[in-house]
Amino acid sequence: MRSADSTARDSGAAPRPPKLQVERLSKSYTMGGVHLPVLDAVSMAVAAGEFVSVIGPSGCGKSTLLNIVAGLEEPTQGTVLLDGAPANDRLGASAYMHQKDLLLPWRSVLDNAVLGLELRGVSRREAHRRAQALLPTFGLAGFEHQYPHALSGGMRQRAAFLRTVLAERPLLLLDEPFGALDALTRAGMQAWLLGLWQSLSKTIVLVTHDVDEALLLSDRVYVMTPRPGQVRTMLEVTLPRPRAYTLTTSHAFAQLRAGLLAMLWREGHEALR
Ligand SMILES: Nc1ncnc2c1ncn2[C@@H]1O[C@H](COP(=O)(O)OP(=O)(O)OP(=O)(O)O)[C@@H](O)[C@H]1O
Ligand SMILES: [Mg+2]
Repeated sequence: MRSADSTARDSGAAPRPPKLQVERLSKSYTMGGVHLPVLDAVSMAVAAGEFVSVIGPSGCGKSTLLNIVAGLEEPTQGTVLLDGAPANDRLGASAYMHQKDLLLPWRSVLDNAVLGLELRGVSRREAHRRAQALLPTFGLAGFEHQYPHALSGGMRQRAAFLRTVLAERPLLLLDEPFGALDALTRAGMQAWLLGLWQSLSKTIVLVTHDVDEALLLSDRVYVMTPRPGQVRTMLEVTLPRPRAYTLTTSHAFAQLRAGLLAMLWREGHEALR
């Protein structure tokens, strides 16, 4: 949200640096002697408390971008800055929900949720206490001792999301968190995430394929080109908050949707050709 920054400007204080900055990030892989450029000079900035989406065609490097921001991979060129400082040692600085939910099948919901806390040395008892307190918010109360196979798709996503939030990091990276869900469950999860974000005051970078999801949730949307992924356009989502799912039927939403689809089309999204 921009309110914190505009307040700082109004009071004459120095504006806060963005929570996350990605500067001219490029990444290539070489496999079997074949050079594959995946990201090409990608730049973006996300203010503290902002909800930003990254949308682009399959294979354009969205997950690679999040892997680099999370510190799981290094860029071939370019810099990641956190709070205005180059973050070379950034592994663990953000909470990352991968494209697959990666729940461990042999651990209960509760034990999956506390994995990150345990790895950081928080006692099991304290980790369970923190997770238990959040179970109702995540719609998992009463299911904490179930194993992943006994959960619905939506519940699995919420369990993985609980684990991400329990990492207690101000920056959340979400890679298509609702991608595997049916349309109804997905709509419910989007509404739930909107409410949660407003109460958590986190900075969120969400990767999605879904135009409506990006518009409903975000303050801004970065549009990527097909591989090698570049960011050439960014859309400000000027819809008021708090938002509800019914907004998707409004005229303002339809106009933004048309604008975003036109950007995707210009950037060469094959599905729109
Ligand atoms: N470790 C790797 N080694 C080699 N190539 C890779 C590696 N990781 C990703 N790639 C390649 O990089 C490209 C981008 O992959 P990435 O997973 O970032 O795309 P994406 O935009 O997240 O796609 P999707 O929307 O389908 O999830 C793909 O062509 C993929 O094959
Ligand atoms: Mg991906």
